[in-house]
Amino acid sequence: MANSETRRRIRSFVRRAGRITASQQRALDELWPVYGVEPSSQAIDLAEVFGRAAPCVLEIGFGNGDSLVQLAQENPAKNFLGIEVHDPGVGHCMIAARAAAVTNLKLIAHDAIDILENAIAPTSLARINLYFPDPWPKKRHHKRRIVQLEFLELCASRLEKGGSLHMATDWANYAEHIDAVLAESRRFACAERRDHDGGAPLERPPTKFERRGGRLGHRIVDWRFEKIEL
Ligand SMILES: C[S@@+](CC[C@H](N)C(=O)[O-])C[C@H]1O[C@@H](n2cnc3c(N)ncnc32)[C@H](O)[C@@H]1O
Repeated sequence: MANSETRRRIRSFVRRAGRITASQQRALDELWPVYGVEPSSQAIDLAEVFGRAAPCVLEIGFGNGDSLVQLAQENPAKNFLGIEVHDPGVGHCMIAARAAAVTNLKLIAHDAIDILENAIAPTSLARINLYFPDPWPKKRHHKRRIVQLEFLELCASRLEKGGSLHMATDWANYAEHIDAVLAESRRFACAERRDHDGGAPLERPPTKFERRGGRLGHRIVDWRFEKIEL
């Protein structure tokens, strides 16, 4: 079986039926032409999509998007591309984007692995953010965790020289997993690792899932990994 076929079977997410509010649905209907980018099986021209050439930051699984919108607002010289499979989150994010009047943000509502493989050209990203990926806590589900050696290879190939991969989790067992997989990878060097109680996020705003973890008493680990040129 080809690698890409194997990958297609392993999903890091389950599409939740989750309720969508009327305003989120309206945002999907009305704001998608402003912020939405359709998934493509060919490399997307990022400069064309954003209407300018600028360093591009990709966020995988942005949830409700509040922290993504804040990052875009605080970094107007960069382009931000968010990928999320959960439609209510995409709707929520577009409402926040409009309220913040950001013009440097675009969204894709699709599987990020598929997008990275097919629609993001090699060496076209300055930074990839993966904040609070689904932890898949049961041992038999660990294979669904998005952070795997193959995923790191894919990220490294899409990052430009000097690019970085930022991650955070509130699950101690996922933090151990990330440390182990990254130690095994030859593509990234750990530039910073921060273990905190939620009060010291690394080069990012707090996120919704982080706050939930904090309420449960979880500690947070943040990492910044730098791409190694082979
Ligand atoms: C635990 S939530 C964290 C959301 C957000 N980053 C936060 O911290 O609030 C993980 C999110 O990743 C999304 N997700 C998981 N796998 C994905 C994939 N392969 N492509 C796009 N989104 C994905 C899920 O739909 C979910 O919204």
